[in-house]
Amino acid sequence: MIPSAVHYHRKTAYDRSRMNAGGLDWSHQPSLFKTYEGVDILELPREVSLPTPWLSELLKGDAPSAGREGATMKPEDLSRILQLTYSLTARAKQSGGGDFFFRSAASAGALYPTEIYVATRGVEGLEDGLYHFSIARHGLAPLRSGDLSAYISRLLRPQTGGLQVTFFLSAIFFRSAWKYRDRAYRYHLLDTGHVLEHLILSLRAMGLPHTCTFDFDDHGVNRLLGLDETREATLVLVGTGAAAGTEPEDGPPLPELSEIYTGASRMAREEDVVPLILEMHESSCSVVHEAEPVETAAPTGPPVAAWEDLRAPLHWPERVRFPDAVFQRRSRRNFVPVPLPRQLTVSLLEGLCATDSFEPDGCLEVGFLVEQTTGFVAGFHLLDRAEQKTGLVRAGNFLHAMASSCLNQEWLKNAAIHFLFMADLESLDRRWGPRGYRHAMLTAGRLGERIYLAATSLGLGCCGVGAFYDREAHDLLGLEPGWELLYLVAAGPVKGES
Ligand SMILES: Cc1cc2nc3c(=O)[nH]c(=O)nc-3n(C[C@H](O)[C@H](O)[C@H](O)COP(=O)(O)O)c2cc1C
Repeated sequence: MIPSAVHYHRKTAYDRSRMNAGGLDWSHQPSLFKTYEGVDILELPREVSLPTPWLSELLKGDAPSAGREGATMKPEDLSRILQLTYSLTARAKQSGGGDFFFRSAASAGALYPTEIYVATRGVEGLEDGLYHFSIARHGLAPLRSGDLSAYISRLLRPQTGGLQVTFFLSAIFFRSAWKYRDRAYRYHLLDTGHVLEHLILSLRAMGLPHTCTFDFDDHGVNRLLGLDETREATLVLVGTGAAAGTEPEDGPPLPELSEIYTGASRMAREEDVVPLILEMHESSCSVVHEAEPVETAAPTGPPVAAWEDLRAPLHWPERVRFPDAVFQRRSRRNFVPVPLPRQLTVSLLEGLCATDSFEPDGCLEVGFLVEQTTGFVAGFHLLDRAEQKTGLVRAGNFLHAMASSCLNQEWLKNAAIHFLFMADLESLDRRWGPRGYRHAMLTAGRLGERIYLAATSLGLGCCGVGAFYDREAHDLLGLEPGWELLYLVAAGPVKGES
């Protein structure tokens, strides 16, 4: 059994001297969509009006009310939420023939491990039950019928009753492990964090109060969803809306779902099981409630001599509204090395400062590298998200060296800014056990997607980077021994935008 996050993270580090070229086995490519044989899909209405706030309004809590608070949900609402959360946004030809589809949320290697399930209670015109969201058909595959809210409430830590709709985000291990092997668990978490950010912002755009929990009875939830736990696991739950009527009573234990359902977690005729992923996930299944709570939300990372207020602009110079940012978002790598105006940099940083009560306190530190950014000294800076301040850790030009540490992805040196998501993994282990790794990686994914959306809104390019030589990046940043870089997201002006 993997004893800790530190252990998993270090065991899956890339090292320049030990990289294995290994190609992809196209004969066992994971299927692009999860399907249930013989289960008819209820298509959701596609032609629905979407709320159109600016992303900045959503993040700052200034969005005009969508008037949905307290209203009974309809299939149209589910359609809106799911369109804004996870849609097919572009089509391409696959090297092996056939069509390939890009999705609204970024994903390492475009492998899309994340799946969404929805449990409903009292949604008008939809039978209470559990459904799998078919992104390909924009519809729901029924898995169980009846009001499941009492079961769901018992599976949450702490228990939360009376939800009208509960969304479950899972990851299918083989989707990313096909390419990334042991390291894929990092991407299961980061990618799911990317989708999670869309879901939370969509609920906010709809004006629907919501809760999000990273802590739940893993095996109970996986059984409820009918997942084959050796292939797929739930990573986070989001609930919304109080259902009308009385609290549901406890019922008899739920029956296990049959092979038609559990078998759907299989993505290829032959799948290599990656024991390290299963071990790490199993270790993280116990919920530890902050054995060592944080004293302060102030950054605990590398030392900073002086902090400076962010002095955020009143308005972000946004070009497109939230739904268009979601649908237009793509990874852009054609950065041009021109100075990034301070107003844009500060808008991006301000976007990262927005927090909500779902974020496990102090699980992550955010830093950034800049060279040509008006109003910032070239160097490695930290962002104090709670106080909206930045502080210089070390002056210098780091972008070329960081591009080299990122498996020589040369285009990275032309980006205006590298955002860095870092954590003290030893402290995470002490506070939450191996589950703390989920908290930090899901949160890093959330913030990564937020940068993508903010960059798209502001007419900038953006690309997430999960591939780096871990020790080199650690040493380049001069991080303390327990600390690690978890994820990097580059942003800046790109060709074709002015
Ligand atoms: C966790 C994560 C890690 C990624 N790592 C890299 C990377 O190292 N290099 C790269 O060029 N793109 C990387 N990407 C971008 C993906 O390749 C991209 O999201 C995917 O191909 C889908 O394309 P799209 O973002 O344009 O929709 C990463 C994305 C995510 C979410």
